[in-house]
Amino acid sequence: MESINDICGIKALLNNKVAGERPGFLSEEEVKGVRKFHATNEGYEATPLVSLECLAEKLGVSKIYVKDESKRFGLNAFKGLGATYAIAKLLCEKLEVDIESIDYNYFKLPHVKEKIKDMVFVTATDGNHGRAVAWAAAQLGCKSIVYMPKGSSLRRLQHIKDTGADAFITDVNYDDAVRLAKKKADDIGGALVQDTAWEGYEKVPNWITQGYTTMAAEAIDQIKSDGSIRPTHIFLQAGVGSFAGGILGYFANVFKDEPPITVIAEPENAACIYKSALADDGKPHSVTGDLNTIMAGLACGEPNTVTWPILRDFAQVFVSCPDYVAAKGMRLLANPIGDDKKVISGESGAVGLGLISLLLEKEELKTLKEKLHLNENSIIICFSTEGDTDPEQYEAIISQTDKQ
Ligand SMILES: Cc1ncc(COP(=O)(O)O)c(C=O)c1O
Repeated sequence: MESINDICGIKALLNNKVAGERPGFLSEEEVKGVRKFHATNEGYEATPLVSLECLAEKLGVSKIYVKDESKRFGLNAFKGLGATYAIAKLLCEKLEVDIESIDYNYFKLPHVKEKIKDMVFVTATDGNHGRAVAWAAAQLGCKSIVYMPKGSSLRRLQHIKDTGADAFITDVNYDDAVRLAKKKADDIGGALVQDTAWEGYEKVPNWITQGYTTMAAEAIDQIKSDGSIRPTHIFLQAGVGSFAGGILGYFANVFKDEPPITVIAEPENAACIYKSALADDGKPHSVTGDLNTIMAGLACGEPNTVTWPILRDFAQVFVSCPDYVAAKGMRLLANPIGDDKKVISGESGAVGLGLISLLLEKEELKTLKEKLHLNENSIIICFSTEGDTDPEQYEAIISQTDKQ
């Protein structure tokens, strides 16, 4: 690992040995099945891929694409992709049917509903995943219980309650809230639907990770329809790394010969993927404490043990970002230049674009820009994984001006 440290508060680690075994559970074949299943949900629609032509021209690259996940299933974030797929797989196990042989509406048949109505799904969340679990459970007539870490947004709590879950803000951090959810599921015989894996708990989080790939598959088609062959650069944000690992694992399978250069961005106070890369011993490492950041969705201290090796083997750069990077991205997307379309992007959704703009604009970050081969031929994609999931905070941030 090569360190490029503390420029404008940004710390980066360059991975000099990108290579590894491509994850079979994120192969093109697997992803095709996941997408086919999602498409049978009546709320399914591919989310927009917004091409910021004017910003790309201003920043001196060929394309900047933003996948707008605020439009996913009416949930204002991408997480419904993981929750619906994992819950469907859990129900298939219970009902002893193959997911290939059914579609989403199967679970709504009266005789099937009768068999699943007492299922309780339990999870911990900083907001988006819990809302998605509550939504998926409610759609199928099942119950859900959701725990949130201390300091969670009351608006996000209310959204989850309104979606039908029993939801609580606890007095522990995200990782301990996950342990609470596990204990509750064990105590009541419920099913834990957690969006992170640890040793001995891999099956459900792997289904969640597979669920996320639908957005990558959509994006590849959309990029091609726009006339680009493939992205040269991908910017992915990480909490526990399930989202980033799922997308990167799939891209590594699709673009075997020429994989895009991938950057993983995290908040500086919850940078467990960065810390794991820094340790350089191949293993995941945790960050503890309050994990304070405006990027609530990324405030996670313990890496997913299944997706960490994918990030370790296939990402070129790990970046620890101060909060201002996310705020800058939010404002750029909220106030587009020229004919570019506006994207409403929340704190955890906008850090990728914030980082892209800083890398392309800041003289101090020139070395990193060059090491990443960012230039006029670059076709960049990032994922705005949430909209204004805390509207008051969103408005407060976009009404401020950039400090850097
Ligand atoms: C909006 C948003 N983006 C990104 C992520 C990161 O996902 P992961 O924890 O899988 O890294 C989350 C996780 O909750 C999120 O809510």
